Order: sequence, then structure tokens, then C-alpha cells
Amino acid sequence: MCGICGAVGKQQAAPIVFEGLHRLEYRGYDSAGIATLVDGRIERRRAAGKLDNLHTVLEASPLAGTTGIGHTRWATHGAPTTCNAHPHSTNRVAIVHNGIIENFEALRQRLENIGQNFETDTDSEIIALLVDYYLQQGASPKDAALQAFSRLEGAYAIAMIFADHDGLIIGACYNAPLAIGFGEQEMFLASDSLALVPFTQRITYMNNGDCVVLTAQAAEFMTFDGKVVQRAVHHTKLTDSTTHKDGYRHYMEKELHEHPLVIGQTLQRMINPATRQVTLPPLPFHLKHVSRAVMTACGSAFYAALVGRYWLEEIARLPVDIDVASEFRYRNPPLNPDSLGILVSQSGETADTLAAIHTLRHNAAHILSILNVTHSSMARESDVVLETLAGPEISVASTKAFTAQLTVLACLTLAIARSRGILDPLNEEEFVSALLNLPGCAAEVFKQTDAIRAVATIIAEKRNVLYLGRGNLFPIALEGALKLKEISYIHAEAYAAGEMKHGPISLIDTSVPIVATLPYGPLFDKTFSNLQEAKARGGRLFVFTDAEGDKHISKIAEQSIVLPHVHPFVAPILHAIPLQMLAYEVAVLKGTDVDQPRNLAKCVTVE
Ligand code: F6R
Repeated sequence: MCGICGAVGKQQAAPIVFEGLHRLEYRGYDSAGIATLVDGRIERRRAAGKLDNLHTVLEASPLAGTTGIGHTRWATHGAPTTCNAHPHSTNRVAIVHNGIIENFEALRQRLENIGQNFETDTDSEIIALLVDYYLQQGASPKDAALQAFSRLEGAYAIAMIFADHDGLIIGACYNAPLAIGFGEQEMFLASDSLALVPFTQRITYMNNGDCVVLTAQAAEFMTFDGKVVQRAVHHTKLTDSTTHKDGYRHYMEKELHEHPLVIGQTLQRMINPATRQVTLPPLPFHLKHVSRAVMTACGSAFYAALVGRYWLEEIARLPVDIDVASEFRYRNPPLNPDSLGILVSQSGETADTLAAIHTLRHNAAHILSILNVTHSSMARESDVVLETLAGPEISVASTKAFTAQLTVLACLTLAIARSRGILDPLNEEEFVSALLNLPGCAAEVFKQTDAIRAVATIIAEKRNVLYLGRGNLFPIALEGALKLKEISYIHAEAYAAGEMKHGPISLIDTSVPIVATLPYGPLFDKTFSNLQEAKARGGRLFVFTDAEGDKHISKIAEQSIVLPHVHPFVAPILHAIPLQMLAYEVAVLKGTDVDQPRNLAKCVTVE
């Protein structure tokens, strides 16, 4: 949460920083601000709300200077006001911060006792005041920064500039990411390399506990005790074009349309076309020795993991334990070196999931992470990373990363099942064919856009919606409900279809639409009965099915949406797509901020 960006060199810094912040707005959009050095003095412009508001402020009052830092905020401590917007500054130093300073109250008390005045309600302001304190004691900017870092507890990526020190930015990161960009006589930093690609492809991802001294010519990396360290420069494959909407109304719409491509790319990486078998990267442990999987993730990634549990237990016969990452460590599950921790995350920075890695590590389990951002903190802390080739996902609501996660989990299941010696080659061939058919079937889903829009017009008028699914489609119902809540602000609940009669059935009346995912297959009859129970009580049914299923469903549903028939193994991947499309169309009809829904941020780096 929160995005930070900085630039130092020969060009005006504010437009570069603003451009970078624009690409980081997915990390938070409660307020924004930029500070630069003008004739050695710190000048700043800040605005509550989205980056557009800062743009208006900058147009009215431009910021000169070739050294600058900026911030886009997701509020943790203090309301999203202009006063609480970063950069926080004194006459000597200005800082931007992503993360939480957990000991800020104690530090603030000490500084207040010696007469320092605080202007904001944020935890971050303490960083500026602390550095200022050491500067007043005569420390150099670098020493003042290092002394301040040694006192901070919590998570932080920080950048700071200093009055009378044109051409200098100091940055640091601890449990929050920071990337450095190398230009020609100019250097950049940002929370995500996505913000740097308009300016450079040469990137260094800082290690946890690194500090950087940035000038126009160089980046000097050191640990918090001042020991100089070398960090590799990578050439990122990201390009500026990956961050455009390409004519779609929203990033979410563009990313929805990328489902077929992303599933195809991920399969191409994981399935050897010659042997038609899943090929994993080299593992530092033997899959056949794994006796149990422990899965954890957050939000949509957790629902992907839930589908993975159905697959691993049914197909690979591997016992699976699963929990949301924010609860995982409180259960303190007993683990041993034969346990395989499977973590799923788009960003690779989600603090709860990262904390789960630490618990797994502490208990000697192997750690396999399924990640979209492979230079992320989770990647660094995992034994092995399986990459979801979804490309940058800008919309806050996850879409294509979700189906890519499912695709990887499906492949992983087949690899584990084979290594355990329980996958009949004929079955393997059947599963692999089902996977390879998916990109084409996923592309066909978009032919149903008008039908999905018709359902959306009904749902957009409602206050509550029920989602139903059974078996490995139950997590897809959960995903559909989450997406609707998240971007359209309509309350939605998902239930395992068979569970409805144990309580939620009393909610059913004509005002609560029921969205069900029910392709024809082994679980059809039972779920069909559940839908009839709902229908008998006045429920209005909107059902995602296939041609065979529709022969039955059309008799009871107000509307059915007919999707291509796929093997039940891959049905969760296909059926996730129309449910996400439905949420999107409802949100568009409601006129919400689809790509940046209220109160959310894409990268949740606080616990
Ligand atoms: C929902 C959504 C979130 C994320 C969750 C985990 O649309 O985007 O629920 O899935 O915050 O994020 P990652 O996958 O980055 O760990």
C-alpha cells in the first residue's frame, strides 16, 4: 500500500515523479504529493484524493527542481486529508513512506518531550522529525538517515531529500519493496518497477534491509549499519505499453480480455509440448517425499488456493490444510520437513501471506510460491517460485492473475500426482488435453457479453445477491461474490449449494437474485435440486452453465448463460471468467470507480 517514487538528474523531477505515481496509483489513492528542491529549499505540493487533484494543484503552482520525491497514499494512520498527505517535511528534510512505523508513538513521545512539533496524525511524520533531529545534531544526510532507520520498527520503504543537497536522494526498505532505476546521468526509485519503465529498463530490486544513496551518476547500496553492498542490475522485460488501457474502458476490462492469452502463456511455460507432461523448474526437494500441503493466501488468491485443495486432494491424493494467511499463523499448525507450504499471490508483497512464509520457514516446511511478480519479497523468501504469466495487473480487482493462478495450481496438481505414482498416463493425457483446450474456450466466453450485460442490469438494481456453487466450483462462487462486493459495492454472499438449506435459504425472496455456476457434470443433479429448492421459494435464478446443462436449467432459470463445455477438472478456470465479467458489468452500470474501488489498494503490505 502507498506508492513512492523519486528522480534525481538533469530533467525536471516533478513531471517524472508524477508520471511514476500515475503508475503506482493502484497501490493507494487517498492522497498524493511531491516535494522537490528549489534553490536548495524543500518545496512541496500535496492534495487529498486521487492523483488528478494533485495534477490540478501542480498546474496552478508548478514545482521546479531536478531532485524530487512523491507519494500516493493508502491511509493507515490519520484521515486522507491534505495535511496527512506525504511528503512530510521539516526545513531540512522531506520524506515519503510506504508501510507502518509500529513504534511511532514511543518515538513521537520522546521527540515531543524535547520540543519537536508534529503537524499530522500519521505514523510516517516521525521519520522526517527523527532525521531532522540527527541533522540538527550535525550528522550528514547519510548518517542522519542511517541513525533514523536503526530506530524504526515496522515495515517501510522510504525516500528522502535534504535541503541544500541538490542531487541527493536517500532510500531504504524493510519488509516493503523498493526498486532503483538506472538512467543516463539520472536515477530513479519507486515501489514497483512498473513506475520506472517509461524512463529506464535497467532496474535493481533492493534487498530487505538495504539503504541506497542515489545521485544522478550512481546508486550506492549499503546495509543499515553502513556496510557497502553490491546489488545486481536487471533488464526488465516490462515495457511502457503494458501499462495502457489499449482502448478498453477500464484496465479491468482489458485484463478480463487477457484471460485466454494468460492461460495459454502459463500452460506453454508449464507443459512440455513433446511429452505433454507438466514440467516444473528444478526443486530443492523431492515432490514424492511431500506428505502434506499447507496452503495459504488472501482474497481471490485464497479462492484459487481453495480450488487447488480440491484438485490436490482428489487427483494427487495429498492431504491439504488451508487457511487465509491473516489467520494462518494463529493456528500455529504443526508442520515438519515433509510439509509443503503452497502460497499464492499476485503481488508477492501481501503482508499477511509474507508473514505466513515466515511461520512456514520457522517450522522447517518447504515453501513453494505461485506468484505473478517474481522479483517480489515473497519470491526472495521462497524455495521455489512458479510464475503466473499474467503480466502486470493494474486494476485493483484481480482477474487474469486469478485464472493464471488456477492454471498453475492445476499443473502443479498433475506434477505432484505423477511424482506420487498415482496418475494413470491415460488420465494425465485427459487432464492435459482439458488444460490445452482452455484458452480457446476462454475466448468463446466473450461471445456471451450481451447476455452477461442483461443479467447485470437486473443485479445492478439489487442490494443483496446470493452465489452458489458445489465442489471445486464453490470457490468460484466465492470469487464471484467477492468481485461483486469489491467493485460494485453490492452485498453478496457465496454458499456451497448444499449448505443453503442449512440457513441462507431463509434469505430467498424475489429481491435476492441467485447466481449459480452449474455446468453439466458429475455434480449437476444435486446442485440442480438445490436450485429447484430456491425456485420453489420465489428465487430468481441466473445460471452459468453449458449446452447440456441448459437443457434442464432453462426450465427453471430466469436466465441461463451458456458457456463452452469443458472437462470438469478445468471448469473452475473457465467459470471464473463470466462471474468476473458480471461483476465488471454491474460496476459499470452503477458508475463506480471500477479500477480503483473505494477503500482498497492492490498491494496490501500491512497486516
Ligand atoms: C480481489 C483482490 C484481492 C487480492 C488479495 C491478495 O479482487 O484482488 O482479494 O486477491 O489482496 O493479493 P495478492 O494476490 O497480491 O497476494
